[in-house]
Amino acid sequence: MAGTITFTMIKPDAVKNGHIGSILKMITDAGFRIVAMKFTRMSTAKAGKFYDIHKERPFYGELVEFMTSGPIVAAVLEKSNAVEDFRKLIGATDPAKADEGTIRKLFATSLGENAVHGADSDENALREAGFHFATSEWFDAQGNCMG
Ligand code: RTP
Ligand code: MG
Repeated sequence: MAGTITFTMIKPDAVKNGHIGSILKMITDAGFRIVAMKFTRMSTAKAGKFYDIHKERPFYGELVEFMTSGPIVAAVLEKSNAVEDFRKLIGATDPAKADEGTIRKLFATSLGENAVHGADSDENALREAGFHFATSEWFDAQGNCMG
């Protein structure tokens, strides 16, 4: 059964271009509840570990450099079928191929600087959430700490 949790980051390009508010509005309008959220800047070591699944890819160095180039918004989101529905909302990795009305179509600059991250599986959503949040920073729909 598909899980109810996904993990996202608003990437440095979208933060610099002033899109935090618009992107968060699209996320909440699409029915995602914010479980945890923070504004932070990743160190090279942290971004390197976060993206270690891409270590062998030619764009790994560029990706780590970009993701540490400025602050990001990291968030844990809740909705039924969270991972798949969120990836639909953000659109294809390359904004030129993203559907109309998706976050990347609207706000991404290029394939590398593509405005948002979305976890690609339930397992990775939890792994990635763990990079940024202790369970004491998660809140349920009643506002109670989940840790
Ligand atoms: P994300 O993990 O950020 O949600 O993106 P994704 O699943 O759609 O794409 P993925 O294959 O996981 O790639 C991670 C991020 O690496 C950058 N990238 N650059 N220059 C390139 O060829 C290239 N390919 C990927 C993008 O920032 C992509 O989102
Ligand atoms: Mg990915």
